[in-house]
Amino acid sequence: MTKAVRYERDGDVALIVIANPPVNALGHAVREGLWQAMDRFAQDDARIAVILGQGKLFLGGADISEFGTPPREPHLPDVCTHIERSAKPVVAAIHGPALGGGCEVALGAHYRLAMEGARLGFPEVLLGLIPGAGGSQRMPRLTGVGPALDMMPAGGSVSASEALKIGLVDRVATGDVREAGLAYARDLLDAAAEPRRTGALSRPTHDAEAFDAARALWTKKSRGEVAPLAAIDAVEVATRTDFDAGIKEERRIFLDLMQTPQRAGMIHAFFNDRKVSKLPELNGVSPREIAHVGVIGGGTMGAGIATACLLAGLPVTLVERDEAAAKKARTTITGNLDAAVKRGKLKDRDGTLAHLNTVTDYAALGDADLAIEAVFEDMGVKKDVFARLDTVLKPGAILATNTSYLDVNEIATSTSRPGDVIGLHFFSPAHVMKLLEVVVAGQTAADVTATAFALAKRLKKTAVKAGVCDGFIGNRILATYRGAADRMILDGASPWEIDAAIKAFGLPMGPFEMGDLAGLDIGFMTRQRKAATRDPRDVVPTWADAMYHEGWLGQKTGRGYYTYEGRKGTPNEAILPFIEEARGDRPQRSFTPEEIQRRYLAAMVNEAAKVVGEGIAARPLDVDVTLLYGYGFPRWRGGPMLWADHEGLPALLADIKAWAETDPYFWEPSALLEQLVAEGRSFADLNKENVQ
Ligand code: NAI
Repeated sequence: MTKAVRYERDGDVALIVIANPPVNALGHAVREGLWQAMDRFAQDDARIAVILGQGKLFLGGADISEFGTPPREPHLPDVCTHIERSAKPVVAAIHGPALGGGCEVALGAHYRLAMEGARLGFPEVLLGLIPGAGGSQRMPRLTGVGPALDMMPAGGSVSASEALKIGLVDRVATGDVREAGLAYARDLLDAAAEPRRTGALSRPTHDAEAFDAARALWTKKSRGEVAPLAAIDAVEVATRTDFDAGIKEERRIFLDLMQTPQRAGMIHAFFNDRKVSKLPELNGVSPREIAHVGVIGGGTMGAGIATACLLAGLPVTLVERDEAAAKKARTTITGNLDAAVKRGKLKDRDGTLAHLNTVTDYAALGDADLAIEAVFEDMGVKKDVFARLDTVLKPGAILATNTSYLDVNEIATSTSRPGDVIGLHFFSPAHVMKLLEVVVAGQTAADVTATAFALAKRLKKTAVKAGVCDGFIGNRILATYRGAADRMILDGASPWEIDAAIKAFGLPMGPFEMGDLAGLDIGFMTRQRKAATRDPRDVVPTWADAMYHEGWLGQKTGRGYYTYEGRKGTPNEAILPFIEEARGDRPQRSFTPEEIQRRYLAAMVNEAAKVVGEGIAARPLDVDVTLLYGYGFPRWRGGPMLWADHEGLPALLADIKAWAETDPYFWEPSALLEQLVAEGRSFADLNKENVQ
């Protein structure tokens, strides 16, 4: 037996205890320990075995420290089969998460007991894979194809009671898992229960309609991601072949997926989720305590931010300009909480709402530990708000702005405590979107930054550190690739061709659909704001100004780049004369979807490299995380910087330089990109050098 698995006896019952802290990962020691425990069980006089986990989890998934190392025997599929083949009955007693490999081990057992609080599921697709140790063949034999098709392509999981309902477990219990496991084992012995091998159960019925529906749903939802559809294929295999052939086919699909760039993209994203908050300057810095949050402005963003805080259990005082606006904010937040109840994210709506105080008097913020400003995007208004906050907030409170573009250093000058000022840039809807850009200004204190990261964790968001510049990381890069789209229109592409190409790449929306959704007045206002300082070589999308003057502001007016019936849009060809006028006598050409994608992505990467080169983003991986969580970049592609590495930086730079011949202002190559190419390095190399 290895140290990670203990073999104990309690009368007739063998207890096989998995103890591999911190997360009971299914590393080599656990696999080997399980194997040896099953051998010992076969040889001694115990009549039944109970497998259980020590710690928070029943049994974790693959051990991530083994990623990239050669696989060592025994392999997990063999361990599951070894358990299943036992001549004496085996019970899995599951008290916590049993996800991925952990769930497959449980399915290898003959009987399953889930304690309340257990969760069973298959998250493999989230890493670009499918279950690879029999899960796709055993689950449908237990539950039928319906629940397997609900769970596997989504990477989903179910609670103990749901698992009982669908037949994934046989009993649910409360209390101590060891006691409950022993009791169940003794009940089984009393009933003279025989081994009941999942793999020997009859083949699940093939339900053509269910497979068609699942394929239709996931073809649409996955936007080019292959693993969800591969998971459906694997479940279908279970309906068509005997178990042993099914296991082989599952393995083949699994190994094929292992080799795909999509899997590499998912792994890149998975590790970046952890690396992004590891900042050397925050080592050993303790965050400040946050027990009460103030929010100033209760419009789109303020109401969303307040909702996010309330959902995380933080009391909120929201300040609005007048009673009517305060009431409106309360109504919006109440609606958000109702929706959270419907989605199963919140139980006690009224209790949560009791922690919201909507006021018009800043004095109510005297007790707040953090105030987040979300008023109009106007420097004068924001400075006024910060000056007021400076007078009412207690010492040590943090003053945050949700500005999208404005200079946080300048905002800080209107206070007497610039060290306490920071940008917390949420994304809309703020209680849903995962990204939080933490904008660290020139004088922001380290513990204020640490507090922002701690807050993000509490709000279940992913925080990325950004420096001060127009648009920080995300919106600055967005402005550039939007610019590339506008230039392609001037060169002959239509907005609808561009949207289609970008969606084919895997983003949920193209830039023009996105504009219609957000409201085309936002872009117009931004152009107005920047008009005075705009470089004369820059291109202005005059057709977009004309659309604004027509009152075509997108979905909210029923017309924009598309004409809407409900939310469904068809191309609004009435904008073509405006586009023709803007094109003037510029030479026109046609674009393939691949050309559109390459220009769009190249513009994104070139600006991103400037953002990294200037230190606005700490590393390329911070850009990848930003685009993934704030801008819908497909997770299976890992992020734009990983995409660029795959494309090859020299070829990308060569393209940028070629485009710069006709448009040197827009396509000025990033100095960092040139340097990396000259040194034969990649963004991945830069990540490696800058991660602890
Ligand atoms: P909004 O117009 O929906 O809401 C602004 C709210 O602030 C209004 O309800 C207004 O009554 C209130 N307000 C204005 N002056 C005030 C004052 N002195 N005291 C108290 N309340 C005051 O605007 P939205 O979209 O919520 O934007 C707010 C901020 O968030 C802006 O800085 C914007 O750039 C930023 N932002 C917006 C995003 C979006 O998608 N809408 C995304 C991320 C940031």
